[in-house]
Amino acid sequence: MTWLVTGGAGYIGAHVVRAFTEQGIGAVILDDLSSGHESFVPEGVPFVRGSILDGELVLDTLRTHSITGVVHVAGFKYAGVSVQRPLHTYAQNVTGTLSLLGAMEEAGVGRIVFSSSAAVYGTPDTDLVTEATAKNPQSPYGESKLIGEWLLHDQGVAQNLAHTSLRYFNVVGSGYPDVYDTSPHNLFPLVFEALLDGRTPRINGNDYPTPDGTCVRDYIHVADLARSHVAAARRLDAGESIEPVYNLGSGDGVSVGEIMTAMRDVTGIEFEPEVAPRRAGDPARIVASGELAARDLDWTMRHTLTEMVSSAWSARSQA
Ligand SMILES: NC(=O)c1ccc[n+]([C@@H]2O[C@H](COP(=O)([O-])OP(=O)(O)OC[C@H]3O[C@@H](n4cnc5c(N)ncnc54)[C@H](O)[C@@H]3O)[C@@H](O)[C@H]2O)c1
Repeated sequence: MTWLVTGGAGYIGAHVVRAFTEQGIGAVILDDLSSGHESFVPEGVPFVRGSILDGELVLDTLRTHSITGVVHVAGFKYAGVSVQRPLHTYAQNVTGTLSLLGAMEEAGVGRIVFSSSAAVYGTPDTDLVTEATAKNPQSPYGESKLIGEWLLHDQGVAQNLAHTSLRYFNVVGSGYPDVYDTSPHNLFPLVFEALLDGRTPRINGNDYPTPDGTCVRDYIHVADLARSHVAAARRLDAGESIEPVYNLGSGDGVSVGEIMTAMRDVTGIEFEPEVAPRRAGDPARIVASGELAARDLDWTMRHTLTEMVSSAWSARSQA
C-alpha cells in the first residue's frame, strides 16, 4: 500500500512521511511549497510539486503511484491571517479539500486521514475539551477546518469513503534534526527567531485568568502526532472501525510563561520576555483529552516538555 501525503514538505507532513516510511508504508508527497521546503522531502520519496487545487494533477498522482489512501495535511494554517484573508483560506482549505476528494472519488481511492485543528472549538467553555465539546470556530481558518471535516463526513455517506479527522492541539518539537517549524506566527519559532537575532521574545498578554496570567495550551510533540497517523492509516487499511474525529491532546496544560522558563533552561540564554497586549481571539486556556486517540490510535505523550523544547531548538539552531 502507498499513501499520498498532501503537504508532505511542511513541518507536520514531513514527520508524517517519515513515520510512514519508517513503518514500511510507501509514501508519496504532493506539495506546492507555498509554506513547505523541498529540503524536508526525504531521499527516495517521490515528490510531486503542485497544488491540491489542480484536480488533474491530483488525479494523475493518485493513478501513477497507485495510491491507496491519503493523509491530507496541506493547508493554510495561519488563523490570525485568515481573518484578513478569508477567501484565500477557504480556497486552500475548503476548495482544496473538495478538489482532492473529487480526484479521490474519480480514482477510486477510499481512505483519508485529515489534519484538522483545535481551532474548530474556538474558545471552549470547559477545562477539558473532548470530541463532544461544542464547535464554535472563531476564524475563517477554524471554520474552514470544520467544513473540511463535514466534507469527509458527507463523502463518507455518499461514496463509502473511510475517513477520520485528527484535531491537533499545539504541535511543537522536532523528530529529526533537519525538519522544524518555520511558521512566522507560532510561539516556538517566534521565540527562537528572536533569540537568534538577539531580540527579546514576547508574551501576548499576562492578565488572563490562569495561574500565572499567561495563556495555557496543550503542547504535543510532532513525532508522537505523526505516529498516530500511521495507526489511523492502518485501521483504515484493515477496515477496522474508526471514529470520525479524534483530539490529539495531552490532557495537560502548560502556560506560555512555563514555556519561556523551559526555553531559558534549554537555550542557556537569560531573558525576561516583553509583555505585549493580548492577541484578539486568543482563549485563556485550551486543553484536550486524548483518551479516544489513546484507545484507537496508539496515541500517547512519549516526550516531555523539555524534550519538545530542546529538539525544536537544536533543529532550528543548527539550520
Ligand atoms: N502546526 C500546528 O500546530 C497545527 C495545529 C493544528 C492543525 N494544523 C494543521 O496541520 C497542517 C500542517 O501544518 P504545518 O504546521 O505542518 O504547516 P506547514 O505550513 O508547515 O505545512 C503545510 C504544507 O502544505 C503545503 N500546502 C499548502 N497549500 C497547499 C496546496 N494548495 N497544495 C499543495 N500543498 C499545499 C505547504 O507548502 C506546506 O508544505 C495544516 O493543515 C494545519 O492547518 C497544524
